[in-house]
Amino acid sequence: MRWSDWRKHFELNRRRPLPKGLERAEEVPEPWRPALAASLATFQLGEAGEGRIAHEIDRAKVPGIDADYRAALKLFVAEEGRHARILGLMVRGLGGKLLARNWTERLFVFGRRLLGLRVKLMVLLAAEVIGGSFYGLLASRLPEGGLRRALEEICEDEQHHLDYHGEFFARQGWGVVLRAVWQAGWWSLALAAMGVVLLDHRRTLRTMGIPLMEAVRAFLSLVREAANHLPVFSERGALKVRGFPS
Ligand SMILES: [Fe+2]
Ligand SMILES: [Fe+2]
Repeated sequence: MRWSDWRKHFELNRRRPLPKGLERAEEVPEPWRPALAASLATFQLGEAGEGRIAHEIDRAKVPGIDADYRAALKLFVAEEGRHARILGLMVRGLGGKLLARNWTERLFVFGRRLLGLRVKLMVLLAAEVIGGSFYGLLASRLPEGGLRRALEEICEDEQHHLDYHGEFFARQGWGVVLRAVWQAGWWSLALAAMGVVLLDHRRTLRTMGIPLMEAVRAFLSLVREAANHLPVFSERGALKVRGFPS
């Protein structure tokens, strides 16, 4: 997709109203509610905290981006803000409390501030993988209803975000060496993030009957999908980048 297509994609998404029926969460079994509310509150913090990059992108000088990419990135940040509002409604509907700080959120913020724009975007890519797989796992266990539908919608957004950030890296024009460095960095970061999330949300996974191995498989499948956006040997055609013309 061209950056102008991404811009249109996010502009269209922005018109969606907030989902209804999240304030009561009656369909969610009572014993699941405290753990689910605590997990969603943690994710709510993460979704709400990505505003800084929307300002930095105007000054950033990196290959492969243009005014449409910059506009799309700001719209992407707004879409994450929308996720935060939806998750906030869910947390309240489940009888939980929103958080001011959390150790995993601080870790992600630290990662985002660590280095340049590309590292920040790699951390965001990890957040898409973590969010996409975690929301998908929760939705797979929730009974039919507003919460499940809203999580499925967010999950679909995260899949698009993954493709959007993946396309940024695919357009950096890197040679084999930089691609290999990126792959090493990506797998280290993504696996570390997966470990953190599995540790922090183990109670929710256990309560909702989601086996650890199922969660690991869901995470790994998206980590691999993100890695395939920037295959090490793409110039030689050894691997195909999903969905992108070469
Ligand atoms: Fe999100
Ligand atoms: Fe996202």
